[in-house]
Amino acid sequence: MSFERAVRERRSVRGFKPDPVPEATLRHCLELAQWAPSNCNVQPWRVYMVSGEARDRISKRMVESFYAGEFDTPDHPVEVFHDEYRTLQIECAVELYGHMGVARKDIAARMAATARNYQLFDAPHVAIVCMDKKFGVGTALTVGMWMQTLLLAFEERGVQTCAMAALRGFPDLLRSELDIPDNHTVLCGIAIGFGDDSVPANKTFVGRKPLDNNVFWR
Ligand SMILES: Cc1cc2nc3c(=O)[nH]c(=O)nc-3n(C[C@H](O)[C@H](O)[C@H](O)COP(=O)(O)O)c2cc1C
Repeated sequence: MSFERAVRERRSVRGFKPDPVPEATLRHCLELAQWAPSNCNVQPWRVYMVSGEARDRISKRMVESFYAGEFDTPDHPVEVFHDEYRTLQIECAVELYGHMGVARKDIAARMAATARNYQLFDAPHVAIVCMDKKFGVGTALTVGMWMQTLLLAFEERGVQTCAMAALRGFPDLLRSELDIPDNHTVLCGIAIGFGDDSVPANKTFVGRKPLDNNVFWR
């Protein structure tokens, strides 16, 4: 697959088959992502790959805590999108919830849709993406570069993903269940597996604004 195809065809997938991804594929893609650039080459990503019993355990605990309304104090403040960003966020939700059949005023259905994050969209693997607590936005930027490298490596090999900021809601739960040291702050999760085309949420397609919305030439 060409780089261009991988970039254009990657989608966030929110429904997976149970089949595990071969460990050799997981390792190969993670090895490729190691080549992401970082400021001063400090390679700050710290990543916990979770499958099998540990995956089931954290998912169960997150779903229970979510329905009980018992979130941890996030390591990083939750972002609230404003103005044009809020408009795009709403468009994205309308597209996704439309395919999932979730009505705007149906609170129970919206809860169930959000809970899908904590069910890891049924993916057999989840990566918990962390960095040292002492780092800030500059280093988080580097970890983001690592993430996209990994997502495209998977795309090239026919493996689908969904980044999940939603997992930032449970940093303490994840640290305690997965033996993650206290100095590792949880930035994001990534659901990893083979997408299930029969899941309505996977019909979601969100486009992009024209270039001039984002890039300013001087
Ligand atoms: C850092 C990051 C966090 C995300 N968190 C979530 C999430 O918690 N739940 C979710 O369903 N999608 C999440 N997404 C997926 C975005 O909604 C998705 O990338 C965006 O709508 C563009 O769609 P596409 O990835 O299919 O191109 C996240 C994406 C990124 C990059």
